[in-house]
Amino acid sequence: MNLFHRPRRNRKSSAIRAMLRETVLTPSDFIYPLFLHEDSGDTEIASMPGCRRWSLDGLLQEAGEAHALGIPAVILFPAIAEELKTPEAEECANPEGLVPRAVQALKAAHPSLVVITDVALDPYNSDGQDGLVRRGEGGSLEILNDQTVEVLCRQALCHAEAGADMVGPSDMMDGRVAAIRTALDDASFEGVSILGYTAKYASAYYGPFRGALDSAPRDGDKKTYQMDPANVREAVRELLLDEEEGADMVMVKPAGPYLDVIAALRDETTLPVAAYQVSGEYLMIKSACAAGWLEEQAVVMESLTGIKRAGADVILSYFAKEVARRLG
Ligand code: PBG
Repeated sequence: MNLFHRPRRNRKSSAIRAMLRETVLTPSDFIYPLFLHEDSGDTEIASMPGCRRWSLDGLLQEAGEAHALGIPAVILFPAIAEELKTPEAEECANPEGLVPRAVQALKAAHPSLVVITDVALDPYNSDGQDGLVRRGEGGSLEILNDQTVEVLCRQALCHAEAGADMVGPSDMMDGRVAAIRTALDDASFEGVSILGYTAKYASAYYGPFRGALDSAPRDGDKKTYQMDPANVREAVRELLLDEEEGADMVMVKPAGPYLDVIAALRDETTLPVAAYQVSGEYLMIKSACAAGWLEEQAVVMESLTGIKRAGADVILSYFAKEVARRLG
């Protein structure tokens, strides 16, 4: 055998592999999602082993540790007490609410940490939908678009007033990025960024998250607003709209099963592209590793490297802190 081309020469030592590696993860690639609740203690989340619902003190501590490891940003998800959930989701824009208080405390304790909030009604809505619901004859369910957008604007303003650096509308209502941009600008919050959940799919991988927040839809599903998992051209359509409406960053969610969508958005836009490795992706890795079937550290790094290689500039992941620690 006389081979002229031997690609293996470029893999012959770990030094050469390190030198030629195309995709390298760093702590600054990550946004760390954190759950919070009103209680004074931190509680393990049954549906997401290794994740907790933090008290305010626990949240400050956890976010501070993550930031010290080089993670630039956190995104907050509140577990709202059952008695505060209403059909109109009023609690979402309460300036004394859980999220605004947490944002204020985080910015006071860690001024350089980027604090992102989730804008959607599902934690606050007694229907568990991201938008306001109108029930028709025979129990049919309509998720109202324009009325929801008005409430989302109030929610985004409330978060901006508390000091959020960035708001992330995850609701998938039409026109919400433009409406939120206008509402923020009119209130002189032109410095607050918008992270659009541009291609958010109606995914079965969100199950453990809904368990963590007790936010699953009480009936029906989210398919009239979240995207059909079969579609990629439609993601580009959403991208073009979010760009035009003034999004500062765009997101694909979930990440692992949608690498082609990440690549498509990366090709079509000059904006930063984020990808969300969601609760079901986290749980699949955690449970397979707990059973001894896969090796956790290696699988976590491979899953995240794949997401970055596909074109994500930023990754939301529940593994962010432990990965940052390993990389550091
Ligand atoms: C709600 C929201 C969801 C997630 C983030 N924001 C759930 C949903 O849309 O039902 C899921 C995140 C995850 O699964 O990790 N607006």
